[in-house]
Amino acid sequence: MATIRLRTVTENDARFLCSIMNTSSILEALNEVPTTLSDWQNAIREWNNDDDEEDYIIFQDEIPVGWLGINGLSSANSTAFLKLAALLPQYQGLGIGTAAICQVIEMLRQRDYSCVSLYTDQDNRKAQACYRKCGFQITESLMDESSNGKIVPRFRMTLELLS
Ligand SMILES: CC(C)(COP(=O)(O)OP(=O)(O)OC[C@H]1O[C@@H](n2cnc3c(N)ncnc32)[C@H](O)[C@@H]1OP(=O)(O)O)[C@@H](O)C(=O)NCCC(=O)NCCS
Repeated sequence: MATIRLRTVTENDARFLCSIMNTSSILEALNEVPTTLSDWQNAIREWNNDDDEEDYIIFQDEIPVGWLGINGLSSANSTAFLKLAALLPQYQGLGIGTAAICQVIEMLRQRDYSCVSLYTDQDNRKAQACYRKCGFQITESLMDESSNGKIVPRFRMTLELLS
């Protein structure tokens, strides 16, 4: 059985993030625009100086297979956000996203956050299935502008952490 673990993103991960986030199926799923290596080098530098945000590389055993980011960590109402999760296409649909997100949820619970929220495109059924398995429920339906300029219907999904 493979082990799924998370490791904080460092500057050395810029090339991996650039490669995953320029994969055509991921650009399409996220309605994102292509990015350069220096975009990712700059982003990582900013994240590392931002108390509101944490980003992680997802490993299956020793292989980096994706990443996820959380933010809202300094919010006064202690609601954290799952900013983004993306796996290399060949590692999708195997339960890795669910395992990685459950680890993040447990970490946020330990740190006394009361709630985790996220936004996802309404047509991204695979992502919603994954989030549902982690305990998230749809709490809002809205229209939002994506990075590529498309106005798309989105869901807000939320998980209460305080039991
Ligand atoms: C979204 C993502 C992180 C989820 O991680 P994952 O490891 O693929 O998810 P899991 O395998 O844990 O769960 C996915 C579930 O969706 C189901 N699924 C797959 N394709 C589906 C589809 N087209 N419609 C509905 N459900 C689907 C899978 O069967 C699985 O459920 P099951 O375990 O009950 O069978 C990953 O698929 C990904 O990187 N996608 C591309 C980027 C993206 O869309 N990110 C989300 C941004 S909001």
